[in-house]
Amino acid sequence: MIDWPAIARAVHVLSVVHWIGGLLFVTFVILPSLSEFEADRRLAAFDALERRFSWQARISVLLAGISGWYLFDVFGHWERIADPGFWWLYAMIVLWALFMVMLFVAEPLFLHAWFDARARHDPEGAFRIAQRGHRVLSTLALITVGGAVGGAHGLF
Ligand code: HEM
Repeated sequence: MIDWPAIARAVHVLSVVHWIGGLLFVTFVILPSLSEFEADRRLAAFDALERRFSWQARISVLLAGISGWYLFDVFGHWERIADPGFWWLYAMIVLWALFMVMLFVAEPLFLHAWFDARARHDPEGAFRIAQRGHRVLSTLALITVGGAVGGAHGLF
């Protein structure tokens, strides 16, 4: 018989590896390397790299959400929803919702245009905002991944 929960867990972890791994690479490798470029070249390069990753991240975020909600339901986690030891599950859902809104609503509707406009009159400031935003998201993601692996294996 096919073990659907095991398959869903594999899909979940693979999508998270791709999405969060990409986020960490942008935050801790790409952005620090770009800070050595001149301000105008730096933003153009960032834009090209980020654009290429953001459509891939959209797919991974969707797959992580579909597999995650399936696991949530199949493991009967509705019963533990009010349990504080379940904070790691809220962390996963909040982080996922944040990226869903950013990638599917804010970026296409206004975030990209706002960032471009800001970058035109204040390239240094725009780059600092991008760096800070990525650091915050990466920190939240690392806490979430650590919490989720610990939580899924009985640590809390
Ligand atoms: C809608 C969003 C999400 C839902 C509903 C969800 C749900 C779940 C569920 C139910 C599990 C299995 C828990 C168990 O074994 O009892 C799980 C595992 C896991 N999730 Fe999520 N998740 C979501 C998003 C995320 C995100 C954004 C991340 C990472 C940043 C993440 C990382 C993980 C990891 C690392 C595991 C542990 C896998 C393992 O070690 O077996 N999930 N998730």
